[in-house]
Amino acid sequence: MARFGILTGGGDAPALNAVIRAAVRRSLERGHTVLGIRRGWKGLLTRETTPLDLAAVSGILHRGGTILGTSRTNPYKNPEDEARAKESFRALGLDALIACGGEDTLGVASKLCADGFPVVGVPKTIDNDLSGTDVTFGFDTAVAIATEAIDRLHSTAESHDRVIVVEVMGRHAGWIALHSGIAGGADYILIPEVPASAQDVAGAVLARRARGKSFSIIVVAEGAVLEEEASPVVKDAGTDAFGHQLLGGIGERVAQAVQEKTGLDTRTVVLGHVQRGGTPTARDRYLGTMFGLVAADLAHRGENGKMAALRGERVVAVPIAEGVATLKTVGRDLYDDMKTLFG
Ligand code: F6P
Repeated sequence: MARFGILTGGGDAPALNAVIRAAVRRSLERGHTVLGIRRGWKGLLTRETTPLDLAAVSGILHRGGTILGTSRTNPYKNPEDEARAKESFRALGLDALIACGGEDTLGVASKLCADGFPVVGVPKTIDNDLSGTDVTFGFDTAVAIATEAIDRLHSTAESHDRVIVVEVMGRHAGWIALHSGIAGGADYILIPEVPASAQDVAGAVLARRARGKSFSIIVVAEGAVLEEEASPVVKDAGTDAFGHQLLGGIGERVAQAVQEKTGLDTRTVVLGHVQRGGTPTARDRYLGTMFGLVAADLAHRGENGKMAALRGERVVAVPIAEGVATLKTVGRDLYDDMKTLFG
């Protein structure tokens, strides 16, 4: 019988617990044991683990977050940590490690595999920007939360004849902005992939006023860049262990520019981590469960270096390297096609 580890890394995403539960239940059914590694790769460095039996994964399906905790620790950041992670891997006696994460966590998983360690992957991120899978779990919940917020903002914007700018998550990709903006009937959508000028946005707002619409909703992804500016708006100059800047503030920039150019009363709402918290949608729970089962199957069969991926209606296995090779971003053609509805 084998001994598997499981960890969740990077930003949390709704339905991580569904993945853990399914992977553990399938593995226990086969007589294997499963060790939870706490706080992502950090827990591998510190060997902070917890045994996962049936009781440990009972009652967690509907809960947001991750029972294992998470971190943005990068064990490849320096040679000492890399050596420590590899030593822990051996010391914990893992026959396979199931790593649930986005580009960073799976990037580490891919490197460990290349270095001869048995790792399988589960693609997670609310941003939905991983290649190799049609969709990542967590995205559906984030879009549902953002859409509900936009619906709520509609009524207050309408009451006050205001422009409301809603900043949603999406560091490199505008999937959340596009889906929630279309579903919520936004008047303009700004995404990182397609720079737009403040003049375009203000022009769209004024055109709607001319048609008799007294309020506007603008949805902007946190990684979007106005044509007038050179780079995304960041909270401070620092970066995390994977070199990412902490984004935030583009919504306010857009609001200021629109107010200046139109003279209309404008407000900003930053949805932030609300999009990642709370109970997952049924679709994310189902997808997370399917991913967890397939990841456990991969670990059982020793198919290391692969990750679960949704292709059409089926969850299949694809190389982790495929998932992290390039980011899946919104195509210009899709964005332009949707412009019938906004802009
Ligand atoms: O990668 C997912 C994500 O939610 C991004 O959309 C966002 O930029 C980032 O995580 C926020 O990270 P943190 O939780 O570290 O603030």
